Amino acid sequence: MTSTQSMTDKIALIDQWCSVARILPVITIEREADILPLADALAAGGLKVLEITLRSALGLSAIRLLREQRPELIVGAGTVLDAAMLEQVEAAGAQFIVSPGSTAELLDAALQSSLPLLPGVASASEIMLGYARSYRRFKLFPAEVCGGVAALKALGGPFGNIRFCPTGGVNARNARDYLAQSNVMCVGGTWMVDAKAVRAGDWAAIENATRQALQALDAAPSGELPRDFDLRAERAEQREL
Ligand code: 3PG
Repeated sequence: MTSTQSMTDKIALIDQWCSVARILPVITIEREADILPLADALAAGGLKVLEITLRSALGLSAIRLLREQRPELIVGAGTVLDAAMLEQVEAAGAQFIVSPGSTAELLDAALQSSLPLLPGVASASEIMLGYARSYRRFKLFPAEVCGGVAALKALGGPFGNIRFCPTGGVNARNARDYLAQSNVMCVGGTWMVDAKAVRAGDWAAIENATRQALQALDAAPSGELPRDFDLRAERAEQREL
């Protein structure tokens, strides 16, 4: 693992990416040949921050390939379940990590990593597990199942300085409601990555669906993205730690 980056820096980087990319597409690669054209279609549609899951055997190589061939994108690793997987995605060049849930092992390992982790949470107790370790940005998962917008409003009471990326059941119909919450920094999901279109290699359809997803939210396509800690414009407010 590489040297520790402070949580303040990690939060600042996450916030910067989320402010320019309001939707985080969750991508599971089934065929090697899909990796570049799928990422290109999403980027052409306006999404340049991508989460590649480790749900398929191609996850790691997809992260590696995208980091080599598409340095203009921000490529994160999803479905990171433990410290060993964290080490693998870090070696593959992932720029951030997403987990569906929280374990003490993973939360502690990510503190030692230079990569920001968005730990998955579905309850106040899980948030507190991360909070005690200075995490302030989480993935709410599975968002619709664990209470959706109503849960976010309720969690905003005790956790006023926490922000979430709700994922799981977020779609074209409800994404706008999620993004309207002050404690939502971005939403994640698969709705613009239609599996049939991917299998058919219909990249124009993916690009269009991506553009429509952003238009439906009145969200701008991702512009220039800060790529590493040296490029950050500002630090997260100290009070947030
Ligand atoms: C995830 O792990 O983030 C989810 O599988 C995405 O959920 P969705 O398919 O309901 O968008």
